[in-house]
Amino acid sequence: KKPPLRKGSMADVPASVLDQIQKFEEMFTVPASKLQEVTEHFVGELNKGLSKKGGNIPMIPGWVLEYPTGSEKGDYLAIDLGGTNLRVVLVKLGGNRDFDTTQSKYKLPDHMRTGSADALFSFIADSLKTFVDEEFPQGVTQALPLGFTFSYPASQDRINEGFLQRWTKGFDIDGVEGKDVVPMLQAQLQKRNIPIDVVALINDTTGTLVASMYTDPETRMGCIFGTGVNGAYYDVCSGVEKLQGRLPADITPDTPMAINCEYGSFDNELITLPRTKYDILVDKQSPRPGQQSFEKMTSGYYLGELLRLALVDLSQQGVIFKDQDMTKLEKPYVMDTSYPARIEEDPFENLEDTYDIFKNELGVETTGSERKLIRRLCELIGIRASRMSVCGIAAVCKKRGYKTAHIAADGSVFNKYPGFKERAAGGLRDIFGWEAKKNIEDYPIIIVAAEDGSGAGAAIIAALTQKRLAAGKS
Ligand code: GLC
Repeated sequence: KKPPLRKGSMADVPASVLDQIQKFEEMFTVPASKLQEVTEHFVGELNKGLSKKGGNIPMIPGWVLEYPTGSEKGDYLAIDLGGTNLRVVLVKLGGNRDFDTTQSKYKLPDHMRTGSADALFSFIADSLKTFVDEEFPQGVTQALPLGFTFSYPASQDRINEGFLQRWTKGFDIDGVEGKDVVPMLQAQLQKRNIPIDVVALINDTTGTLVASMYTDPETRMGCIFGTGVNGAYYDVCSGVEKLQGRLPADITPDTPMAINCEYGSFDNELITLPRTKYDILVDKQSPRPGQQSFEKMTSGYYLGELLRLALVDLSQQGVIFKDQDMTKLEKPYVMDTSYPARIEEDPFENLEDTYDIFKNELGVETTGSERKLIRRLCELIGIRASRMSVCGIAAVCKKRGYKTAHIAADGSVFNKYPGFKERAAGGLRDIFGWEAKKNIEDYPIIIVAAEDGSGAGAAIIAALTQKRLAAGKS
């Protein structure tokens, strides 16, 4: 059954273009049954990741061994090395489920994604120095505790280390994979004489989980829908088979353990993902083919690229953009996720903004029916991403037996992509078979906007860690 066109008249669109739209609809539409199948497979893969043998999904223990109580207090520094920016935050935890933050953002120069480790950690240390000089003009007497949000898969045997397993989200810096990034940062801080102590290294999803739980005890997961896609939740130590023999003596089987799933790598074996030829191309042309298969279909780093590849393909087939200069559009990653997002925001009838975007930014003159095709394609890519990306949430809830939950979410796609929240809720509804509700907040499992995970979360985790150490625990 063909999904109906959502908006706008297609009466003036020639048959060849309508035909193409229909092909895209067949290619990108993921029905409820497929979402359910993906979720089932997902649950099994989460379990495999926790086993001694391991699987595709890393399921990394984060060594956050308690739930936040909301009463954690104190001043902490936090840094967040995300995909695009470095954020430096001073967090004042109020101790009453409240906090205040002061922050600065430093744009990560593009070349740094693929530059040297030295350049990257020097940049972080320099930014921290600027921030500390500004915030503490009278100088610092005692080392400032810092929580480091490092949003890549990093293995830990304790909380203040992180051995990078592999770069994701287009990062490709030599000499970091397989190494602990904490001493790399600490060395650059020492060189500059900045009195900072890296107390904890955390993933952005773990930060989101803990920060949101600090203010809302109903929180069951922290998720990022941004440049990458990932989620974290609390398991118990006895539920993590691969931890057997690695646990300090003061930890009991029911001690909680935050798990950074790293489920962007779900189904690298390609058993169940409904990939199109464009997904296959994105993967092939990425610096790490065969990795992050789930993320490549759902996250912000790739949505614009999927759109670009489909458009270039149609132009090569002679279906659209006849006699247009394709030089700009032929450049990989020239369209980031703001492109499909802006195009989806453009009213369907005339698509004037879309006309301007293509004309002014990409040097391509579009016809009205081409713009309708582009718009529909953006919808299909956006709908698929939001529906597919909740399979991770559904799988964790099924695994843990959560019938109701608040899922704390953050990231550019969640915050900015038009319609994401409604589509994601629709995806969960299809997976669980819930009865339709008018208001998406009335479903049993709801995705809510997170608290500042990479700032407050890192600070709360730093506070929890200090408390553990002060109590003489490992
Ligand atoms: C990528 C990273 C993961 C992070 C996610 C969201 O999947 O590997 O660590 O949580 O992006 O930023």
